[in-house]
Amino acid sequence: MIPDKAPEEDVFHGAEEMRRGAHVPTFDKYKEMYMQSIEDPDKFWGDMAKDFFWKSKHTGRFLDYNFDVTKGEIFIKCMEGASTNVCYNVLDRNVHDRKLGDKVAFYWEGNEPGDELTVTYRELLNCVCRFANVLKSQGVAKGDRVAIYMPMVVELVVAMLACARIGAVHSVVFAGFSAESLCERIVDSQCSLLITADGFYRGDKLINLKLIADEALQKCTDKGFSVGRCIVLKHLSKEAQETSLSSPPAKRPCPDLQKEMETVRVRKTRLVPQVPWNPEVDKCWHTLMCNVSDECEPEWCVSEDPLFILYTSGSTGKPKGVLHTASGYMLYTATTFKLVFDHRADDVYWCTADIGWITGHSYITYGPLANGATSVLFEGLPTYPDVSRMWEIVDKYHVSKFYTAPTAIRLLMKYGSEPVHKYKRDSLKVLGTVGEPINPEAWQWYFTVVGDGRCPIVDTFWQTETGGHVITPLPAATPMKPGSATFPFFGVVPAILNESGEELEGTSEGYLVFKQPWPGVMRTVYGNHGRFESTYFKKFPGYYVTGDGCRRDKDGYYWITGRIDDMLNVSGHLLSTAEVESALVGHEAVAEAAVVGRPHPVKGESLYCFVTLRDGTIFNHTLEAQLKKQVREKIGAIATPDFIQEAPALPKTRSGKIMRRVLRKIASGERDLGDVSTLADSSVVEQLFRSRCCPAM
Ligand code: WT7
Repeated sequence: MIPDKAPEEDVFHGAEEMRRGAHVPTFDKYKEMYMQSIEDPDKFWGDMAKDFFWKSKHTGRFLDYNFDVTKGEIFIKCMEGASTNVCYNVLDRNVHDRKLGDKVAFYWEGNEPGDELTVTYRELLNCVCRFANVLKSQGVAKGDRVAIYMPMVVELVVAMLACARIGAVHSVVFAGFSAESLCERIVDSQCSLLITADGFYRGDKLINLKLIADEALQKCTDKGFSVGRCIVLKHLSKEAQETSLSSPPAKRPCPDLQKEMETVRVRKTRLVPQVPWNPEVDKCWHTLMCNVSDECEPEWCVSEDPLFILYTSGSTGKPKGVLHTASGYMLYTATTFKLVFDHRADDVYWCTADIGWITGHSYITYGPLANGATSVLFEGLPTYPDVSRMWEIVDKYHVSKFYTAPTAIRLLMKYGSEPVHKYKRDSLKVLGTVGEPINPEAWQWYFTVVGDGRCPIVDTFWQTETGGHVITPLPAATPMKPGSATFPFFGVVPAILNESGEELEGTSEGYLVFKQPWPGVMRTVYGNHGRFESTYFKKFPGYYVTGDGCRRDKDGYYWITGRIDDMLNVSGHLLSTAEVESALVGHEAVAEAAVVGRPHPVKGESLYCFVTLRDGTIFNHTLEAQLKKQVREKIGAIATPDFIQEAPALPKTRSGKIMRRVLRKIASGERDLGDVSTLADSSVVEQLFRSRCCPAM
């Protein structure tokens, strides 16, 4: 499956100096290690596991699994019998065994230039232990679910690791999601506590997070589920605490980190949010932290104890709680981070993703910390205060490994090379991308303008479900082809299937599936194992189905072609068409809705919605604005429709199924419709073409 020889043409090789000291220096070495990882996974992963602390060793096979629904329940177990603690491994082990206590874990860079904070591994451990004690004091115990709804601040990492330390299961909800979305996630995993913040700035815009969190908790109560406790971080200011909160400010001065964080933040922020406070429910993070010990014995967990839940869109519209467990996830994110970014001790690594998505979980929190890496944690936007911000930060911290999304690259590309060339960027060594297929133009710009043609690009394909990278280049070893995620990571066995489920060999295109598990693959959909089985394993028994299309070229390179289910990828985030449609039909004026993706030069896809109105309703700008608002409020800003078109009728098959394929063509203005013989009424299509939204792009 892996070619004997990497192609010599049309490919980019990483800089020669990359190879020196690289973990995987050549393509031959990659192939050799890949074969070992497949033929003897116990040995391969056993070697990787030696870097970690195990309270007790595993007893059975390294990986045990069933991927075939026809043979019984689907399961994946990794390192059964072992016990460990993920927080202990990513913090205590670094501070005590590896003597990295004084090493910087995070350079926090705030939204506002000048807002900054440096946190060492020792300080992080101290904070995490204290917050773990806070959680315990609030009644959180092993196995309990904790919802975290926070901006990109160090305390978000602290909250996650404190959960891991006491064996609680965190469920981080991206701070851009709406109250409704937060509520839905809290209720689904029955979280006993919510951790949030007063608010934060995104560029110029103040987001009053606590107000949204309160609304979510109210919605939970309305649904008969009461959360009872909410810990609120005063991120924006201490004044907020003194002026508008009824709870008394901390009597004792808060030690070290806390104090420093407050000073820094107060200095730079302009407006502070008004924070409503209900003393029955709301507890102040700082006050709680001042009254606990900084020692906290980790809770020893077995390998398959849950580590976290992270929701991802599902094609039925209801988000799925993807569950990851302790040992396998830790091992896999640590190993992929180390090898895919070729991590070195003196690196400064920066991943621009939000921790609210899996990229942040695996490659801001767990993977880098497991390796004792120094990371930049950035709260702001690539365009604030100007479009040079990213490169300014790269120079400021001497970032050597940089990881972002194609949508960010396309956005910055629009402003040309001048804002990039204003900064030196000579510290950069490896550039990464994730989230969607990267178009070759964006790849070339990233490579030549950002990386000055020196830095290999790792185009990492993976999913919330896969836990970590599954198809990816290794920077010193893999000759790159712009737009291809190249080859499988160690332990991963991809295949391409046709519609009848037959494996295709050689040059081919079809469904991307995986034939066996790797340590970091998800274990279940929280509370709904049946949905896990039917979503990923039912279509092709024996395989994990990604939902992506894929092409393999003559050199064996994998090219992801995009989703082949009813999912849209907007700025690297998956949205289900059903979810947006259900938000639209929630409006009294809408009888039926169909949502498709329309190519967008920056976002990848934009949301194009067709709505059929109820009799007597008129489509106008007011209604359009209301519908956009409706979706935004139900799901979050990322799901705001770009276009809404009135559809007196939708193109349907004779059996009544909406033909999305046709709608996609209408949305993007392509006249070549292909075979439309199953269409019940072809005049509908002509009508929709005539009235389509044709915005200037
Ligand atoms: C979907 C997963 C993995 C973290 C971010 C998204 C698409 C992701 C790539 C890539 C082509 C990619 C796929 C995948 N995708 N990375 N390098 N090349 N497509 O996580 O929200 O779970 O989305 O993102 O369609 O299935 P997610």
